[in-house]
Amino acid sequence: MSPNPIAETVAALMPRAKDELAELVAFPSVADFDHFPRAASEDAAGWVADALRAEGFEDVALLDTPDGTQSVYGHLPGPAGAPTVLLYAHYDVQPPLDESAWTTPPFELTERDGRWYGRGAADCKGGVIMHLLALRALKANGGVPVGVKFIAEGSEEQGTGGLERYARANPGLLAADAVVIGDTGNFRVGLPTVTATLRGMTMLRITVDTLEGNLHSGQFGGAAPDALAALIRVLDSLRAEDGSTTVDGLDAEAVWEGLEYPEADFRADAKVLDGVDLIGHGSVADRIWARPAVTVIGIDAVPVAGATPSVPASARAQVSLRVPPGQDAGKATELLRAHLEAHVPWNARVAIEQVGQGEAFRADVTSPAYTSMAEAMRVAYSGEEMQVSGEGGSIPLTNALAQLYPEAEILLIGLSEPEAQIHAPNESVSPDELERLSVAEAHFLVNYARSREV
Ligand code: BES
Ligand code: MN
Repeated sequence: MSPNPIAETVAALMPRAKDELAELVAFPSVADFDHFPRAASEDAAGWVADALRAEGFEDVALLDTPDGTQSVYGHLPGPAGAPTVLLYAHYDVQPPLDESAWTTPPFELTERDGRWYGRGAADCKGGVIMHLLALRALKANGGVPVGVKFIAEGSEEQGTGGLERYARANPGLLAADAVVIGDTGNFRVGLPTVTATLRGMTMLRITVDTLEGNLHSGQFGGAAPDALAALIRVLDSLRAEDGSTTVDGLDAEAVWEGLEYPEADFRADAKVLDGVDLIGHGSVADRIWARPAVTVIGIDAVPVAGATPSVPASARAQVSLRVPPGQDAGKATELLRAHLEAHVPWNARVAIEQVGQGEAFRADVTSPAYTSMAEAMRVAYSGEEMQVSGEGGSIPLTNALAQLYPEAEILLIGLSEPEAQIHAPNESVSPDELERLSVAEAHFLVNYARSREV
């Protein structure tokens, strides 16, 4: 890294950042309180609030959002006339899933081969630390040149939209001239990247019932309507032969314009097994950034262990649909619902319930803040040029902020590059990326403040 005071300060702060990330990762703050303790999320929220107070933030508050979780807010006033920048991250995490698949315990930050492992290390507790590092570097080098609002969401991963609803009900609260969403990732390690688009998503649960109870599969099988077979048929109708998504009436042929994702890189990042084909058609970028994608994320059916020769009477699935930028998540939900209802065979009874929804997002990457970020990334990454990529994942608040504050310039950066393996066992963060992105964010705030001086 080129020697400059901000970079030197951040480098010196890294041991502390590691200790802090370890403290934050130690809270199992999964915002699913049927399965994880609410106290863990409350403690994580308290940790963030204390950190903000220690940095001199005012009005630090735990916001009780309508989904029963808490988001942490704080305001650091800037110099007179300076613009306000909103910094976003989330402190909730995905569940660890199969704990035995973790090499080291999910809630103990552990260094291995130059990366720090732990649930939320990249997504998105590392994002909280990145913002803190950037602010501390500025305070040690002449002060923070902008007003800062900080918001750490408490249930981003659940898709329950608590903060989104809170923000709409309190429309002044998060108002800012620019927003840095610290919850995406570089296209790959070492390649500084802003994310231009996010997909939205919708989730439905479908239950199929055919019989009052399971039946002997010899005595009745062949004529008795099988609920699992009906569910399999309706779920399979969501795909064409090549595996691409086919929801009746939903456009799935859009083309991505911008940075391409070479197929070989994608295969390696996704760890696709040798000899297994990718699904869909068009470029990889078309498929993951510009088009819808349906995934059956859970099925309740009779388990193999203890299986008896019976015709299943009912079966249930959870279906997620990623919705590309330019398509409305509400409309996509209705199309998916209608498709599922229409494709259930044999007049089987079907019930559909919605469990989450978030809109897609497309940034205006020609807005002036992007010039400030490009310059900042060039400095932090020793001359490496900023890349502009798409992202197939979702951050529902982003679209709400764009609607509430149409003038705000929104930038997405973060620590979730492909090697981070977010949402999977053995999630990790690259400390080099944490360091360099913190330096980039600090420089961005300086450049942005300067660009707004009259
Ligand atoms: N940080 C992710 C979004 C993301 C994914 C960024 C991949 C970069 C690479 C975010 O926390 C996330 O996972 N969001 C959920 C939201 C959903 C539940 C509405 C998602 O996309 O599944
Ligand atoms: Mn996530």
